[in-house]
Amino acid sequence: MPPYVTAEQTRNILIIGATGVVGTYIIRAIVDARENFGRICVFTSEKTLVEKVQDIAALEAWGVEIFTGRMESERSVKSAYEGIDTVVSCVGRAGIERQIDLITWAEQAGVRRFFPSEYGTDIEYWPESAQEPPHQLKLKVRAHMKTMQRLEHTYLVTGPYSDLYFGTMETRPELGYFDVKAKKAVLLGDGNGAVSFTAIADVGKFVVAALINTNASRNATLIVHSFTATPHEILAEYERQTGVTWEKSYTSLERLRQIEREEYQVHSRLATVVTLRRIWTEGGTLHKYYDETVLGHIETETLESQVAANIRKQEEGENNFPSLLRKLSLV
Ligand SMILES: NC(=O)c1ccc[n+]([C@@H]2O[C@H](COP(=O)([O-])OP(=O)(O)OC[C@H]3O[C@@H](n4cnc5c(N)ncnc54)[C@H](OP(=O)(O)O)[C@@H]3O)[C@@H](O)[C@H]2O)c1
Repeated sequence: MPPYVTAEQTRNILIIGATGVVGTYIIRAIVDARENFGRICVFTSEKTLVEKVQDIAALEAWGVEIFTGRMESERSVKSAYEGIDTVVSCVGRAGIERQIDLITWAEQAGVRRFFPSEYGTDIEYWPESAQEPPHQLKLKVRAHMKTMQRLEHTYLVTGPYSDLYFGTMETRPELGYFDVKAKKAVLLGDGNGAVSFTAIADVGKFVVAALINTNASRNATLIVHSFTATPHEILAEYERQTGVTWEKSYTSLERLRQIEREEYQVHSRLATVVTLRRIWTEGGTLHKYYDETVLGHIETETLESQVAANIRKQEEGENNFPSLLRKLSLV
């Protein structure tokens, strides 16, 4: 992609949550496309500075400016916002509501565009979406964004990450898994429901494309995906790549709903995971039509490449989320 920065386009970017699961991939993709941007900055906590010292060193080595402070501190946040055109937030679920202040301060500080932390299930897919517990805070953030006068927004909706859906599920196997060593799988629903997935690395590529295509992404909800597959198609790919037939069983939608009720009754943190898996199995974030032209051509991961990556990961016993440094092969 050629660099084509103009005065109207994104130049200086601040990423909040850059050392998190998704943020790691987003910052990496932005740094890889640095010729399109001016300053690349990160706002993080003092705690992260200490706990993820090697990741921070890697960011600095890439030329990323590091700002530290508490997300609740207007002074610290506004100081990081100075000279920034675009804020990309990838804060975790526990930080979603805090974005309300971050958005207000961005408008006051003259930031032009804010990407709230979305990168998942479509929270406005159909009328029932408005009642789903995991969507409530993200919906609140969108409602707040509507009250802004000048601040533009981009919502990037990716659906589930194939990197998480593929693989094992030790906490509650009934929630679906693909176990390479045991050659066993638990498929959700009747196994024939299509789900559109995005590979986490592709989330970063889509964010970069949205940053570069300023006009197409202005005040837009961009619905993207890497590929679409049913649980049966995913299993068939594992079987093809491992060369044997796997043992399979199913968790019906009805059973998923029952597990969901049980998890909410005991205020379990797993409840959110169950709800999201139930939504995906219902087809509640599957867009039948994707406009691939909005962000231009993006080379994405495929069912084949993601299954291959997961087989490798399970065989090597690798962590789900290697740190920035391990991805850079520095340690
Ligand atoms: N589609 C999917 O399958 C899927 C899966 C997982 C997540 N997601 C979505 O992706 C987004 C990011 O999630 P994540 O799992 O990457 O997040 P995460 O790793 O839990 O956290 C990301 C970063 O947010 C920052 N943060 C600062 N204050 C926070 C607070 N009070 N609570 C939580 N985080 C705080 C931290 O950055 P510093 O340490 O730098 O301060 C943290 O590293 C969320 O919107 C989530 O819903 C989607």
